[in-house]
Amino acid sequence: MSEDDKKPAGPDLTKGIAATDLKDGGMLTGRVGDDEVLLVRHGGKVSAVGAHCTHYHGPLAEGLIVGDTVRCPWHHACFDLETGEALAAPALSPLPCWTVETRDGRIFVTAKKEQPKPQPVGSASERVVIVGGGAAGFAAAEMLRRRGYAGRITMLSNDSAAPVDRPNLSKDYLAGSAPEDWVPLRGDDWYAENKIDLKLKTDATALDAKAKTLTLGDGNTLAFDKLLLATGAEPVKLDLPGIGQKHVHTLRSLADSRAIIAQAKTAKRAVVIGASFIGLETAAALRARDIEVRVVAPEKRPLERVFGPELGDFIRALHEEHGVKFHLENGVTAIGANNVTLKAGGTLDADLVIVGVGVRPRLALAEKAGLAIDKGVSVNEYLETSAPGIYAAGDIARWPDPVSGARIRVEHWVVAERQGQTAALNIMGKKERFRAVPFFWSQHYDVPINYVGHAEKWDTIEIDGDVAKRDCVLRYKQGGKVLAVASIYRDGDSLKAAADMEREAAKAG
Ligand SMILES: Cc1cc2nc3c(=O)[nH]c(=O)nc-3n(C[C@H](O)[C@H](O)[C@H](O)COP(=O)(O)OP(=O)(O)OC[C@H]3O[C@@H](n4cnc5c(N)ncnc54)[C@H](O)[C@@H]3O)c2cc1C
Ligand code: FES
Repeated sequence: MSEDDKKPAGPDLTKGIAATDLKDGGMLTGRVGDDEVLLVRHGGKVSAVGAHCTHYHGPLAEGLIVGDTVRCPWHHACFDLETGEALAAPALSPLPCWTVETRDGRIFVTAKKEQPKPQPVGSASERVVIVGGGAAGFAAAEMLRRRGYAGRITMLSNDSAAPVDRPNLSKDYLAGSAPEDWVPLRGDDWYAENKIDLKLKTDATALDAKAKTLTLGDGNTLAFDKLLLATGAEPVKLDLPGIGQKHVHTLRSLADSRAIIAQAKTAKRAVVIGASFIGLETAAALRARDIEVRVVAPEKRPLERVFGPELGDFIRALHEEHGVKFHLENGVTAIGANNVTLKAGGTLDADLVIVGVGVRPRLALAEKAGLAIDKGVSVNEYLETSAPGIYAAGDIARWPDPVSGARIRVEHWVVAERQGQTAALNIMGKKERFRAVPFFWSQHYDVPINYVGHAEKWDTIEIDGDVAKRDCVLRYKQGGKVLAVASIYRDGDSLKAAADMEREAAKAG
């Protein structure tokens, strides 16, 4: 490859482009030295930012401009076009930004801008404690420091690993196509550099909401001024003969994923119990390792409850194309050393068994402390629980969703991170409502499915495009109102649907 081949594509923006080449709302990708730069005209201004998302490198030129932000087409991260700040997860790091000058009818991109340092906010003697080293807990700690929170931050996690990119644990990392150093959300040094006291293998066992103290597993107590509960969820355990054997796994943590990988090295036949997202993503990852996979589940169609029959059938066919065999409307009654016994009769050989039958929110700490619980920890629009100064975010939080008008609890990575970010701003006294439109993605082989909104039930599914051709948008409607939109390779439509719902939510107050 020659030096020129390595250079990013597009015009050299330091030499300028005709101003008329960039219409309002328009985007253009060019280069500045070795950097690929996105030039955007928005509301009369022109901004130059890095062309790739800081989450998984998504191409921002294929995204959507909304006001002074650009949204990533892949998982809907949102960046400020003037500062580059990653305003909404899953991206957490800012985009680089460049200075732009317009002269003689041409637009020139000049020097790279310095990232501004935040002004210290609040008192250095205040202490925030975060219970949970997952999506919500990490995003909260990161946002507190990003916005200059001057107080102490202690993060407690009963996991042995520092916060990880959990979605990767059932996808590329499990499939063997992503190395383990992609998995931590930040390197170990980051916590010390940002003065975040991360205490791993530390259980918070009791909370006294009035005295503002936590009791830890070793019997010590920890006082706080503000608290964020982000304890997440844990896999549902099945009470089956043989469940405790070494080759039987659930998947939540990095340790779980590592244990499956270790056994996958010699396993020949796997049975996945449960056609859940995690069950099916694990099936795909194990197929990538050439392991024979059978999925046993009680439902008629995989994921029909979330996606409806058309996408359910598509997902089944997709897995079958890759060699997965389904045993639906069935169950497992016992797990032996080399096989599982089926409810409908017969056995399946298995030297690896994955149980993916859903998760349960970890509510015990909040419940025992007497916080209001309603199928989750009840929070208001500021994500504050029934106890002042105590917030909850992520898989445990049930919040008033302005998009659907209902109180909902979801188990989505991006929602957990965004709630952690909003809780952090409220801990800093910002009074920010949580209005983000729920979003999740799931990946099966090379097929990503994106979903915005929230539909527990619907009366109509409107399909635009062709599901089998992997080019479709499905709109889940109730009484004519679009509650949720699922899509395959229609990122633009997915982004537009989220932006429309966001506007609706803003109108709702
Ligand atoms: C394998 C896998 C793949 C996934 N893929 C996707 C995906 O593709 N897309 C998507 O939208 N979602 C996905 N999810 C769901 C997503 O990861 C969760 O919704 C998200 O992690 C929830 O964040 P959280 O912060 O609420 O909880 P978690 O990330 O689970 O973090 C909870 C933390 O709290 C700690 N903890 C719990 N109780 C205590 C206690 N008492 N004391 C101390 N620490 C405690 C735990 O150790 C953990 O560190 C996936 C989940 C898994 C397991
Ligand atoms: S790659 Fe941009 S949000 Fe994931």
